Amino acid sequence: MKIIGTGSALPSKIVTNDMLSEFLDTSDAWIYPRTGIRHRHVISDEKLEDLAISAAKKALDNAGMKAEELDFIICSNVVNEYVTPSLSCIIQGGIGASCPCLDINCACAGFIYALDIAETHYQAGKVKNVLIVCAEEPTRMTSWKDRSVCVLFGDGAGAAVLSEGDNIKGIKLSAASATDKLYQIRTLEPTPYVTKEEQDIPLQMKGQDVFKFAVKASSGDIKYLLDGLGMKADDIDHYLLHQANKRIIKSIEDFLGQPEEKFPTNVETHGNSSSASCPILLDECNRKGILKKGDKIAMSAFGAGFISGAAIMEW
Ligand code: ACO
Repeated sequence: MKIIGTGSALPSKIVTNDMLSEFLDTSDAWIYPRTGIRHRHVISDEKLEDLAISAAKKALDNAGMKAEELDFIICSNVVNEYVTPSLSCIIQGGIGASCPCLDINCACAGFIYALDIAETHYQAGKVKNVLIVCAEEPTRMTSWKDRSVCVLFGDGAGAAVLSEGDNIKGIKLSAASATDKLYQIRTLEPTPYVTKEEQDIPLQMKGQDVFKFAVKASSGDIKYLLDGLGMKADDIDHYLLHQANKRIIKSIEDFLGQPEEKFPTNVETHGNSSSASCPILLDECNRKGILKKGDKIAMSAFGAGFISGAAIMEW
C-alpha cells in the first residue's frame, strides 16, 4: 500500500514539568535530562473519540478521499471510556463511513501492527482504501501520585489513509511475553459467582527493563528489515521512532550510526502518547514538508507485552 494522507489531534491542555512539581515530588531538572520531555498534552474536557474523529477527518482531507470510499477502518487503542462498542465503530459513525471496522490493542506498537493488517488485507485483494487511527489516553491509565510513571505520558490521536501502491517495503512484528514489566489491571463487574480477590492497579512499569527492551527491539527490528531489503542504515532518510524517551531514541541513533537530523522528535512537547506517537509524528513531518516524494522512511515502536514492530516505506 501507500500512505496518501495523514492527520492528528491533540488535547488543548498543556501540562509542563513545573506544573507537575506543584503536586508531585519531581522537577523539570529530573524529568527533562532523563526523558527529553518538557511538557505534554493531557485530556481534560475532551473525549478521546472526538480527537480520533478529528485526526481521521484531517487524514481523509489530506488524502483527498471521502469517508464513503473507505473499505476498512483499523483503530489502535489500549484504553478509552467504552469497553464496547469498539472505538473504530465510533470513528466510523463520526466520519460517515460504512465499511467494516476493527480495534487492535498492540500497545505502543499499534500503528505498525495496523500497517501490517492493512497491507495483508490489501495483498489478499480484500481492500483498496484503509484508514488507520491510533487514539490513546495513557494519562488515564497512570496513578497521578506515582511520579515514576505519570510524568512520562501524554494523550492524542494520529491517523493515516492508505491506498493502492507498493510503497511499504517491509514490516517486522515481534512479541515476547513479559507481562510483569509494564501492565495495568482493572476490575470487572462483580457477579454472584466471582469469589477471587480483584483489585484495580494503575499502570506499573519497570523503567530500566523497558528501556533495555526498547533499545534492543527497535534497533534489532530496523536492522532485520534493512538486511532483508539489502539496504544500509545510510539509505534511510527519516527514522520516525516511537516517542517514549529521547535517551532511547539517542541509543538507537548510536546503534545505527546515524545523525540526529534523521530522527525528528516531538517527545519534548507531547510526551509518550503510546501508539498515537508514530502517526502524530508522521503527520507533523508530512505537514512541515520534511518528507519528500521517494524518501525512505523507517518507523519503529515498542511497548507493553513486550511487543515491537518496524516498517520501511517509501514516501
Ligand atoms: N521525579 C523525581 N524523582 C524520580 C521520578 C520523578 N518523576 N521518578 C523516579 N524518581 C526517583 C526514583 O524514586 C529513584 O529514587 P531513589 O534512587 O531514591 O530510589 C530515582 O529517581 C531513580 O529512579 P529510576 O527508576 O532508577 O530512574 P531511571 O534513571 O531508570 O529513569 C526512567 C527512569 C526515566 C523511567 C527510565 O527508566 C526510562 O526512561 N525507562 C523507559 C521508560 C519508557 O520509555 N516507558 C514507556 C515505554 S513503553 C510505552 O510506550 C508504553
